[in-house]
Amino acid sequence: MPRVTVTRRLRFNAAHRVHNPALSDAENAKLFGKCNNPNWHGHNYTLDVSVEGDIDEKTGYVCDLSKLKTIVEKEIVDVVDHKNFNLDVPFMREVIQTSENIVTAFWKILAPKVKPGKLARLVLWETENNYVEYTGR
Ligand code: NI
Repeated sequence: MPRVTVTRRLRFNAAHRVHNPALSDAENAKLFGKCNNPNWHGHNYTLDVSVEGDIDEKTGYVCDLSKLKTIVEKEIVDVVDHKNFNLDVPFMREVIQTSENIVTAFWKILAPKVKPGKLARLVLWETENNYVEYTGR
């Protein structure tokens, strides 16, 4: 049975400030520059959610992408869209609010929700030019 990876793209926007509370304000400013702006800044994020699995004989699908969309909207988009990652998103409070930490937090939430498919890859675009990718390792 061929294994195929299917991907659904979703979008949300959110604010954050990249800040390490263990460091001084001066060190944070030097390390993170504009991303450390005390009054936040925003991004239009794009999230690509990829699920791998066998092709179902009845449907010809690996998974129904509209169902995957509904799951990701409920578990992720509804929680973070139009929110501040530092203040409003409980699972991001204890880590530095970078895309790397956001994408791994998303993984923990989504991995158990996409069965019987297997979460294969998350790609989080922070800008047109910057993205992070995580495959659960
Ligand atoms: Ni930023």
